[in-house]
Amino acid sequence: MNINEARLKHIEQVLAKRMKTGRFQHTLGVRNAALRMADQFGADREKAAMAALFHDYAKGFNKEELLQTVRLYHLQPDSLMVQAHQLLHGSVAAAIALNEFGIDDDEVLKAIEYHTTGRKHMGTIEKIIYLADFIEEGRDYSGVAFLRELAYRELDLAVYQALTNTMIYVLETGKLLHPNTVEARNHMLNELGERKVNALKKMWEGLYGKDSRNSTGGNYP
Ligand SMILES: [Fe+2]
Ligand SMILES: [Fe+2]
Repeated sequence: MNINEARLKHIEQVLAKRMKTGRFQHTLGVRNAALRMADQFGADREKAAMAALFHDYAKGFNKEELLQTVRLYHLQPDSLMVQAHQLLHGSVAAAIALNEFGIDDDEVLKAIEYHTTGRKHMGTIEKIIYLADFIEEGRDYSGVAFLRELAYRELDLAVYQALTNTMIYVLETGKLLHPNTVEARNHMLNELGERKVNALKKMWEGLYGKDSRNSTGGNYP
């Protein structure tokens, strides 16, 4: 299916009616951030916008609704996803985008599916959506300005930082950490090399001090 302006506008209008106001505002924030990153890094604007619109479509679903959709579309989540069921809202939203809205673009579907945990070998649209979720204009937490700045300049470094922040948050709050997140972070570290990551750490400490933590739960419940 070809994604164009008219299709995007139509989807935006449908989702505006179905989603809660606050979540829809967040969705538009993610869309705007994703479009800016798409321009910056030469990614497809329409794909970025479409993935952003759908990414949290199922975030308001309760456990039963999530599992119902899992069964309906024969998804095969791992046991940890079922246990920490909020993490399912990405794959459930992707299944709905495909089966109920006819969105069959693989890059878009992967970006929707993996925005909750990340994964290794993320493509550019996936990275953009993963990050846009953390830095959209409505987000306000310690260190968001730094991550925002980084996201529009150094996509991979920013993805690495967002994954690391998420891991710190999950560990500190005693929640279940999904292996996709660990694999994604290790993969980014290997891709970037320790020199680049250490330079980032120095910059970070210069701005926020050694003990500062930019912790945000992201999509971990
Ligand atoms: Fe989400
Ligand atoms: Fe989100």
